[in-house]
Amino acid sequence: MRLDVVSIFPDYLAPLDLSLIGRARRDGLLDVRVHDLRDFTHDRHRTVDDTPYGGGAGMVMKPEPWAEALDSVVASGDSGAVPHLIVPGPGGVPFTQALARSLAAEPWLAFACGRYEGIDERVYEHAAARMPVTVVSLGDYVLNGGEVAVLAMVEAVARLLPGVIGNAESLVEESHEDGLLEYPVYTKPASWTDGGVVRDVPSVLLSGDHGAIAAWRHTQRLARTAARRPDLLPVSGALTPEGLAEVELRPATPGDVGELLTLTHACWLKEGIANETLRVPAMHETVSSMAASLGEWQTWVLRSGGRLVGTVRGRVAGEGDWYVGRLGVAPDLQGRGVGRWLLARIEELAPEGTRRLVLTTGAKSEGNLRMYKKAGYRIVGRDDPVGTVELAKPLRR
Ligand code: ADE
Repeated sequence: MRLDVVSIFPDYLAPLDLSLIGRARRDGLLDVRVHDLRDFTHDRHRTVDDTPYGGGAGMVMKPEPWAEALDSVVASGDSGAVPHLIVPGPGGVPFTQALARSLAAEPWLAFACGRYEGIDERVYEHAAARMPVTVVSLGDYVLNGGEVAVLAMVEAVARLLPGVIGNAESLVEESHEDGLLEYPVYTKPASWTDGGVVRDVPSVLLSGDHGAIAAWRHTQRLARTAARRPDLLPVSGALTPEGLAEVELRPATPGDVGELLTLTHACWLKEGIANETLRVPAMHETVSSMAASLGEWQTWVLRSGGRLVGTVRGRVAGEGDWYVGRLGVAPDLQGRGVGRWLLARIEELAPEGTRRLVLTTGAKSEGNLRMYKKAGYRIVGRDDPVGTVELAKPLRR
């Protein structure tokens, strides 16, 4: 891949000689050419900017040096070939992993690093008459110029090229590759005494149980995405429970905890009454225990018209078991099939390798028992002192 960068600070691009990108250049995988915009000026002061028409603060980059620089880049290519010109700027389309992938498929990219208040708009017209042009932003903040953005973009694009990263597998399970953030990673020692605090690696990672490890990692990815980037979370709206309009099923985020707690208390109070007991763990849930549970369970929330109306969660428990818990529907919406629908969704989310779906309910929770039996569950155990039954059904896929 060929990369041309035009800047008034060519030295800023020196890091492109380092690390994997530097090696890719030396290996001939990347042909990087950095150009000084001032080489395309013709006055004694090598002037690249001037005051803005219409007034206002700061300076604007002059059109002539830019047009000459871009023409010279194009002229240096094979006849007929033109680069895709990327102009970094806070007003551009967001730079994403998907855009990095699509740029990585192009043979030739050129970057125009603006400074000051920007580049005279006619330069974009000049360039667009000759090559594809995309203005790209790293994020919703303002840098002093495009150089730092080019370093970031070149690194993100170049590492996707075959041969640039030794272990191509490491590209697969990365943040943003499939819409979720990465799971946390650990290395030796398994138990680290950090000052006086013992910090252990999660035991599942030492278990050798690949199914359980994969399920744990997936739960962590969902929880982390929910906590840090809820905007990335998948929304399951393909099928909707009957009688509910505008539903959205999403992994629970920390922002859901307050409502989730209220819903949980409302649902399980009814269970406590039906089973004549206060020994229902859901009734004792607190804001902090609920928040902590999001890292231990894949917890989903169902919203209808913005209101949190249902929840369900799942986790791997024992070899081949997918444990379904906390299936709850707002009291005024019960009896419409919403619970059955949530149950079907969490069953679909059982990780690969699941052989059995397992859940617990009150021995006297007749409505629940009816629904679970209808869904194919059978009682496999009883805890008489607590007053619960365990139900299970084999999972056949
Ligand atoms: N130049 C100035 N700010 C920028 C940003 N946010 N992204 C890309 N280039 C920029």
